[in-house]
Amino acid sequence: MFRKPQPIASLGRTLLTWYDQHHRRLPWRETRSPYPVWISEIMLQQTTVETVIPYWKRFIERLPDVEALAAATEDRVLTLWAGLGYYRRARFLRAAARHIVDVHGGRFPRTVEGLRALPGIGTYTAAAIASICFDVREPVVDGNVIRVLGRCLALEEDPRRGTGRRRIEAAAREILDPARPGDSNQALMEVGAMVCRPRSPRCSACPLAPGCAGRAGGNPETYPPPPTRSPMVEVCRLGVIVEDFQGRLLLRRVPAGEHNAGLWELPWIPVEAPHPGISAPLRRRLEDAVGFPLTGITGPVAEIRHVITRHRIQLRLHRARPAGPAPRSRRGWRWLPPAQAGRLALTGATGSALGTFHRGAKRVHRG
Ligand code: ADE
Repeated sequence: MFRKPQPIASLGRTLLTWYDQHHRRLPWRETRSPYPVWISEIMLQQTTVETVIPYWKRFIERLPDVEALAAATEDRVLTLWAGLGYYRRARFLRAAARHIVDVHGGRFPRTVEGLRALPGIGTYTAAAIASICFDVREPVVDGNVIRVLGRCLALEEDPRRGTGRRRIEAAAREILDPARPGDSNQALMEVGAMVCRPRSPRCSACPLAPGCAGRAGGNPETYPPPPTRSPMVEVCRLGVIVEDFQGRLLLRRVPAGEHNAGLWELPWIPVEAPHPGISAPLRRRLEDAVGFPLTGITGPVAEIRHVITRHRIQLRLHRARPAGPAPRSRRGWRWLPPAQAGRLALTGATGSALGTFHRGAKRVHRG
């Protein structure tokens, strides 16, 4: 039988010893300098460590310090970010770099409050940078920490709000080692990533097992309860790959204020439901969207499914040519050969589409 769990506060040392022996050697852990750590923390909010490593290396190689990022064009930053999704984060990175250079003379603020005042830096990122780079005794609470501590506490409440949130924060503060807060925080996240995984947690390898009430009860994976989510909305779009006689493709830049603003995408229109062919009214709407008459419409040639927040989007793409010589591009539109188009900062769906439409493949894309 399991014994009564130890208090979480008593496991801080054990957690750090485990971290010293087992942590992954990640490139951003070779340094405590805030610029590379910041970039890694923002990228890690998007996706997995494996995906982030090459992006992070390329970003740091091309824009090695906060001055270089502040001086870069938005297009350049978005291109380095392309594929990671949620491009607002990339725009905030550049805005924060400019603020650090213009207002702080290129030096990062060293407090949680100072960091939080920067664009795109919230409670989590401020605590991560402050603790890892400046030894500030501030716990971090991300999805991994919520899962690990939610299980340790056998938390029944929603861990993202109210009492549940406060109990998680209190436990994170209790387990923090005041001499090594950055490593303590990373250790808790590392346990979440490597051991206390969402499904089938490896309790026998867990340094926190002696303090885990979830494990003591026999069903650690049932804690904390899943957040209540609003239902998904199904959305259909009709897109068009317009190719001129030189083989150039028509792309439009997503306007400010829309999701993915500043990225390039294939033109599309919203439709009520999936559409097997192109009726005359749909064709007129497509022509209105691109700004000139179309001919030779065929397809669909590809179908891309992707998810943006609560929207499940189905994009069905047809091919077409301009009726007559390719019209001059309007502001925010470009004609580009496919290879050059591939180097732009594309939306995820358009990136997938341009990679697959020749094969007519179906692709599922997130982001
Ligand atoms: N996830 C996000 N940041 C992390 C870090 N510094 N260590 C481990 N996992 C993380």
